[in-house]
Amino acid sequence: MIITFATQKGGAGKTTLAIAFVNYLNALTGRKVNVYDFDFQKSFYNKWVEDEMLELPKLYDVNVIGDDENPFDDLEVLFDLKDSEDVNVFDLAGTLDEKYSDLLIYSDVIIIPFEYSDVSVKSTLVFKNLLGIIESQAERIFIRSKYDKGYKYLNQQEMDEEISKYGVLIETPVFKRNCLQTINTRKLSYEQKYAVRKPFNEIIESINEALQITL
Ligand SMILES: Nc1ncnc2c1ncn2[C@@H]1O[C@H](COP(=O)(O)OP(=O)(O)OP(=O)(O)O)[C@@H](O)[C@H]1O
Ligand SMILES: [Mg+2]
Repeated sequence: MIITFATQKGGAGKTTLAIAFVNYLNALTGRKVNVYDFDFQKSFYNKWVEDEMLELPKLYDVNVIGDDENPFDDLEVLFDLKDSEDVNVFDLAGTLDEKYSDLLIYSDVIIIPFEYSDVSVKSTLVFKNLLGIIESQAERIFIRSKYDKGYKYLNQQEMDEEISKYGVLIETPVFKRNCLQTINTRKLSYEQKYAVRKPFNEIIESINEALQITL
């Protein structure tokens, strides 16, 4: 199957959540996880290489997709990843590009982190519209990222109602936490695990027909 972390807003928390999610999945399932870094900044891949210093076991491989490469010129490659028993996780850039369209159409699941700032709300709605226009078949999962517990988001109710029409809105937010700024690709600390456990279990429950994980 293919799970893609994407939205068109930079800095929304895609890579942080993607790292946390694959580490978390790895602890829960024997299914093989493969990561594909499809962002020109290569944040996930660079972190994964840097984490070699930690001398902790590698949990998965991170593959880089080159900048001017369209890996899905041959759609067969994409369908093989989709049909595979492995969990194939893609991390995308915060800017949209035509080279992403086939992946966005054929992903099984797209996880969309968002915040309630005006810019993030607009970008999230534009991204949601784009998925509609390209007729993406993916299940859309919206997750509140960097959520500040003490803040009253005035546009929250309206935004939640709107996006709930187009996909699953994960009830528990991923809160703004310092511990998530120091995430690594080898191991989730107890604190990090605690920070993502509830929202990630909700994600897994909503896609578990495909994942088949015992929580
Ligand atoms: N829940 C969180 N709490 C605190 N800081 C966070 C959280 N999630 C992400 N961050 C921080 O926000 C910044 C942006 O996060 P990240 O790189 O994951 O976003 P991104 O969507 O992948 O960005 P880009 O569009 O550049 O790829 C990073 O400094 C990261 O440490
Ligand atoms: Mg990123």
